[in-house]
Amino acid sequence: MVTGEIGSGKSTALRYVIGGLHPSEYRVIFVTASSGSILELYRQILGELGVDNAGASRAVMTRRIKREILELVHGKKMKVAVVIDEASLLRLEVFAELHTLTQFEQDSKPFLPIVLAGQANLVDNLRYRNCLPMASRVVARCHLKGIDQKTMEEYLRHHLAIAGVNRMLFDEAAVTAIHQGSGGLFRKANHLARGSIIAAARSESTLVTADHVRLANTEIF
Ligand SMILES: Nc1ncnc2c1ncn2[C@@H]1O[C@H](COP(=O)(O)OP(=O)(O)O)[C@@H](O)[C@H]1O
Ligand SMILES: [Mg+2]
Repeated sequence: MVTGEIGSGKSTALRYVIGGLHPSEYRVIFVTASSGSILELYRQILGELGVDNAGASRAVMTRRIKREILELVHGKKMKVAVVIDEASLLRLEVFAELHTLTQFEQDSKPFLPIVLAGQANLVDNLRYRNCLPMASRVVARCHLKGIDQKTMEEYLRHHLAIAGVNRMLFDEAAVTAIHQGSGGLFRKANHLARGSIIAAARSESTLVTADHVRLANTEIF
């Protein structure tokens, strides 16, 4: 289970990890959750498995998902994982049933790990009584926090370097303002950095100052 505020880097971290897994050895079924029913989720998983029409009954759909997974695990000797991003959107009744996907009658080996990523209320949702079977199966939890100020400075330098700028455009107070204004969260920091560079350019300044960041901050959420 991976939790973190909006823009803390959950999806990026998942994509990074998945990108490092060799496709001949690993099969990652990546779905972005919706607030729909569990049938919607099963349909998404089946779609990722290349099965587009498995009917509308949940019994048929779960059987089909399990058959596909058993084929990957035993037939193709692959390691399979389901990754559900935005899992904090899932309805409680989905959590009440989701763990049954990992149960295979013939085999007690837990060969279908599920990674759930979402905002912090994911943890609260799993505290509901109906979700306890799922919650009791969580083996690892990680919370992505905002980065500290020094890392924010490195982050800004990193992005400048990618854009071909080798000079630090942001003065120290601007870095502090971006760090504080974003709470150390990447996406908000991106917006503030971009907005403050535009503000600096508009005032024909070659250095981005805290005033430019403040101007940018009034224009975004
Ligand atoms: N580890 C990282 N290194 C550099 N940039 C990152 C990193 N994680 C996130 N970002 C930046 O922050 C943005 C938001 O990250 P994202 O993974 O979409 O957040 P979340 O899924 O938690 O809402 C990304 O588009 C990317 O620009
Ligand atoms: Mg995301």
